[in-house]
Amino acid sequence: MAGLAARHLLGLAEMEAEEINLVLETARPMAGVMERPIKKVPTLRGKVLVTLFYEPSTRTRVSFELAAKYMGADTVSIAPATSSVVKGENLRDTVQTLEALGADMVVVRHQTAGVPGQLAGWLSRTVVVNAGDGMHEHPTQGLLDLFTIREEKGRLVGLEVAIIGDILHSRVARSDIWGLTKMGARVRVAGPATLLPPGLEKMGAQVYHRLEPALEGADVVIALRLQQERQRQGLLPSLREYAASFGLTPGRLALAKPDVLLMHPGPVNRGVELAAELVDAPCSAINRQVTNGVAVRMAVLYLLLGGG
Ligand code: CP
Repeated sequence: MAGLAARHLLGLAEMEAEEINLVLETARPMAGVMERPIKKVPTLRGKVLVTLFYEPSTRTRVSFELAAKYMGADTVSIAPATSSVVKGENLRDTVQTLEALGADMVVVRHQTAGVPGQLAGWLSRTVVVNAGDGMHEHPTQGLLDLFTIREEKGRLVGLEVAIIGDILHSRVARSDIWGLTKMGARVRVAGPATLLPPGLEKMGAQVYHRLEPALEGADVVIALRLQQERQRQGLLPSLREYAASFGLTPGRLALAKPDVLLMHPGPVNRGVELAAELVDAPCSAINRQVTNGVAVRMAVLYLLLGGG
């Protein structure tokens, strides 16, 4: 396959398995660049990437900026709180201003689902990448999760992947479910009934209301952050009760395969969705996910900005 079909990256729901595979294959040599003493290739020299984040981020924003810098692009980071947004400038005028300033790509995170797609419709030349929109998708997190699993397990086809926790508010869960099922893995999801949205079976996931059966024999377990900032009143009795029913502990994780891979998109609420000691346990790939995120985002920039 020569490239990605769409000009923008809005979600994994829209991508074909062949395109996902292309991103994962392209990320491998990018990971090699990151291991060099001088992490620099001139592939995107002259290109300009703008990060526009209306919600907080450490991993996604920094990894996009590093990915762009490693490939020779120039980067600008906009914090809406210190931009003309506070003077009332709307989204359309903001991104069209960025396009007029010469941005080749805008990487956007927004609290409202669908904003990246809306921006894409307003821009004639600038490429849009979704860095997380509301409860919809976080496609580059999904891609880096797939990359990590394939690097660690050697395959995706036929793996049993359990996604545990706050599925309702998780854009990561949605991107992971779309990506994993398209690539041939089997996905189980488990969480409290109030945090399991309708429609998960239609996406190809098997739904569990208890943690233990979802963990049994799993090859990969992905714990999700309990999104306390998005909880509506009454969805959870208490954090303590949530942790008692759905918190991952070494004893519970022992129900999975002996060589289980433990993942989490971060940031982790230690002692809530994950026992603190599991974060650094030998089965944990959490820090490797972060590292792989740079290589996967380099691949995305390369494929969308016509590198090489
Ligand atoms: N996983 C993730 O999106 O992390 P950040 O919020 O730190 O970007």
